[in-house]
Amino acid sequence: MCGIVGVVSTRQVPDLLVEGLQRLEYRGYDSAGIAVLDANQVLKRRRTIGKVKELADSLRSDSLSGVTGIAHTRWATHGVPSEGNAHPHVYGETVALAHNGIVENHEALREELVGLGSEFTSDTDTEVIVHLIGRELANTDSLLDAVRRAVKRLEGAFAIGVISSRHPGRLIGARKGSPLVVGLGHGENFIASDVLALRSLTDRFILLEEGDLVELTPSDVSVWNLDDESVVRSSVKVEMRVDDTGKGNFQHYMHKEIHQQPQAVAATLEGRVTRHRVLEEAFGVRASSVFDRTRAITIVACGSSYYSASIARYWIEDLVGIPCNVEIASEFRYRRGVVLPGSLFVTITQSGETADTLAALRLVKEQGFEASLTICNVPTSTTVRESDLALMIQAGPEIGVASTKAFTAQLVDLMLLTILLGRRHRMSEDTERELVGALRGLPDVLEEALKLDVVTRKLAQRLVDKHHALFLGRGAHYPVALEGALKLKEISYIHAEALPAGELKHGPLALVDAEMPVIAVAPNNDLLEKLKSNLQEVRARGGELIVFADETLGFRTEPGVTVVEVPSVHEALAPIVFTVALQLLAYHTAALKGTDLDQPRNLAKSVTVE
Ligand code: G6P
Repeated sequence: MCGIVGVVSTRQVPDLLVEGLQRLEYRGYDSAGIAVLDANQVLKRRRTIGKVKELADSLRSDSLSGVTGIAHTRWATHGVPSEGNAHPHVYGETVALAHNGIVENHEALREELVGLGSEFTSDTDTEVIVHLIGRELANTDSLLDAVRRAVKRLEGAFAIGVISSRHPGRLIGARKGSPLVVGLGHGENFIASDVLALRSLTDRFILLEEGDLVELTPSDVSVWNLDDESVVRSSVKVEMRVDDTGKGNFQHYMHKEIHQQPQAVAATLEGRVTRHRVLEEAFGVRASSVFDRTRAITIVACGSSYYSASIARYWIEDLVGIPCNVEIASEFRYRRGVVLPGSLFVTITQSGETADTLAALRLVKEQGFEASLTICNVPTSTTVRESDLALMIQAGPEIGVASTKAFTAQLVDLMLLTILLGRRHRMSEDTERELVGALRGLPDVLEEALKLDVVTRKLAQRLVDKHHALFLGRGAHYPVALEGALKLKEISYIHAEALPAGELKHGPLALVDAEMPVIAVAPNNDLLEKLKSNLQEVRARGGELIVFADETLGFRTEPGVTVVEVPSVHEALAPIVFTVALQLLAYHTAALKGTDLDQPRNLAKSVTVE
């Protein structure tokens, strides 16, 4: 993970760098740093522990100046969060470097460099890169050359930004396995881990590809490959709405993003459905022939994206009638699986940069899948560029580390995919008509569901002092329970587990007592009676139940059982509506606890390391 940003300009850059880092903080926030070349081309560096704000405060009281610089916000992998481990790392007084990724052969390189007389000041894997570059500068006058020679020796993943006091007015970037974009300005140019970081500086970008090196001056950008050949990369214009990245009237991004779900769903449907049908043409010319050939699906993802995939499995097997295998990317990539004939490989990833998901996508290229499809929120991301087909969600930037609107928008895309495949298998026109109608009505149902803000805020008082919670669901609502538990644990730090309700009696029931709140999801479907029996098992053990129940069921609050009525919707879409209710419960619990819920401890939004 980690975020990097670099600027080469004719104006002062420290403020620009810090602003870029603030936008990249979703990638890590345990320490931050900046290095600039001052007016005398002397390398100046400042590093602080904690969030980017600490760095900004430090620079406010004791400023740095310079027109060329790099900066970094860190999510520790090698070495604890400390000033000494924070980037940029330096080679003497000559070279400074910021890195995102992991150098897998750092131990061997460090040993070799120590043998040559290098002294290391950090526990990071990164520091070897700057030493390699610094030493290469003894053999070449070109910083680009030195960087090329150094990165050729690296195994693992990297995106780097490099400046040198011997090469004023010059910034070098390189990427392999970690994201890096170039921003094109007027009289200045930039690099960053994503386009969002440079939002206030430019809307023109070059999306670097694997193995690209880039040399930037204030007036020029040239891209090279590892063999020293110049490569042509065209620039793209990326529109970004200004209001997308603020908190608006909300105290937290997460709360704002929960409330943006009706718009995210509506935008994801826009242009893709008529009154009764899904528009196949909206998925691109190649999609039809790929869907015609699809006889099975494998979906691979991480975190919340894995849970949206897990819900879709129920849809695809039930409504389409083809096998759907869903797997966590970090497991899938190290397992030899069986590829069924006619299999479509699907990745789901909000960011499009998650290392394990990306690795899985690259791995299957040789495995006999018909094609790869990604469901993603970032059009400029690596998975979009490396997949055969991309089905974008239109959730807008999601800043809160805990995924909310991306999750529900993913489910909308997955339902569209289900319908497109269903048409070719067991789904009737009537069912398609019914589902499309329900999808079109979904934003309104979500608006209703968001009114649960009030009751979940009150309920949160009951959870805030608890240390554990159990979530129960059945069928497609089991992954809903998993997502609800994930939301609660990641932002409130309350230990939460989710179970298929029928499994409770096979062990976890032993945990149930008055101190263990049990949160159940009760939609109106044919598993309801079974779920009710499972809930009785909890009541009989003195467990306190909070039941999120479809409003048409008429469940009533009684001693030991609190009922929250959830707006009714087509049965297939109920997982989306129930998820919103659970998001609100987690949000209010964490808000009451006062945790840093947009940036929970130890986490990061985009996990670009293994
Ligand atoms: C991190 C985030 C999660 C996210 C997961 C997968 O763990 O904290 O919110 O679900 O990565 O991210 P992706 O971008 O691939 O959906």
